[in-house]
Amino acid sequence: MMKKGLILTNAYAKLAAFSHPASRLQEELLALGVAADILRNDGFHAYIDEHGEIQTALCDYDFCVYLDKDKYISQALEKRGLRLFNHHQAIIDCDDKATTFLRLSAHNIPMPTTLFGLLCYTPDCAPKTAALDKIERTLGYPLIAKTCFGSLGKGVYKIDNRNKLTQIATQLQYTPHLFQEFIAASAGKDVRVIVIGGKVQAAMLRRSTTDFRSNIELGGVGEQIEIPQELKTLCEKVASILQLDYCGIDVLLDSENYRVCEVNSNAFFSGIEKVTGVNIAKRYAEHIYGEIYKK
Ligand SMILES: Nc1ncnc2c1ncn2[C@@H]1O[C@H](COP(=O)(O)OP(=O)(O)OP(=O)(O)O)[C@@H](O)[C@H]1O
Ligand SMILES: [Mg+2]
Repeated sequence: MMKKGLILTNAYAKLAAFSHPASRLQEELLALGVAADILRNDGFHAYIDEHGEIQTALCDYDFCVYLDKDKYISQALEKRGLRLFNHHQAIIDCDDKATTFLRLSAHNIPMPTTLFGLLCYTPDCAPKTAALDKIERTLGYPLIAKTCFGSLGKGVYKIDNRNKLTQIATQLQYTPHLFQEFIAASAGKDVRVIVIGGKVQAAMLRRSTTDFRSNIELGGVGEQIEIPQELKTLCEKVASILQLDYCGIDVLLDSENYRVCEVNSNAFFSGIEKVTGVNIAKRYAEHIYGEIYKK
């Protein structure tokens, strides 16, 4: 019987960068004898019927590589017994930067000091002065503000003074956001580490000469690095706490030690494949094969 998998991608994502992981994984899964269909998550692929039962036509697949962040369909499919890569909860925990830090807390994982933005649902409210004072006192300048749900460096701001703080706090008032210590020693550089099946597979140093953010999509340049044991241990611990099959961890380089910046459950891998020569898609496909057909 043909081994059959499913790769679900976002309903609307247009960027070629979003379709690359799907086609690469399809290729590598086929090389292992698994036929994987690529579907957009735009077909209401799971719904609740009048009896309150989850209905879906996708349970004939042996597994689903969930390359989307739609938390309703992921929960529905998992509840119907479909093995998702990554697991629904792991995707949720990584999608929200504040939740990621909370999940990683109490495990001795070094992170930048972080304040969660105050929840506001009262229209036409200005940020509270006392709150801005507290942010200033706790983090000093420069500091970082981020939307909790963001990627590609969009939604990450460096704030150098009170005016900018007020402006950005006002802008983010009605969006889940956080304020964070700026790790100055890591300005314009960080390390992206890919972990699959609990094991570090590759790492690249990302450097930007024009921006404090080192995202490749913002002009950062990647270079291969030897992965120090301390960094390997840290990243494998992070992936294990979040129960991730696959992830890309961003690590800031503080003078003394590493600081976890964020964890991406659907990190793009074309850049790190080019820089390191590691076939990430093949290794992820092999992990999935092992989880589904060898267990
Ligand atoms: N606290 C910080 N101190 C110093 N630099 C930071 C800090 N937080 C973020 N940065 C820089 O900004 C970049 C983008 O931040 P972050 O990774 O949190 O956002 P993102 O938009 O989710 O990125 P991704 O595309 O990786 O999902 C980081 O790669 C790092 O270079
Ligand atoms: Mg990042």
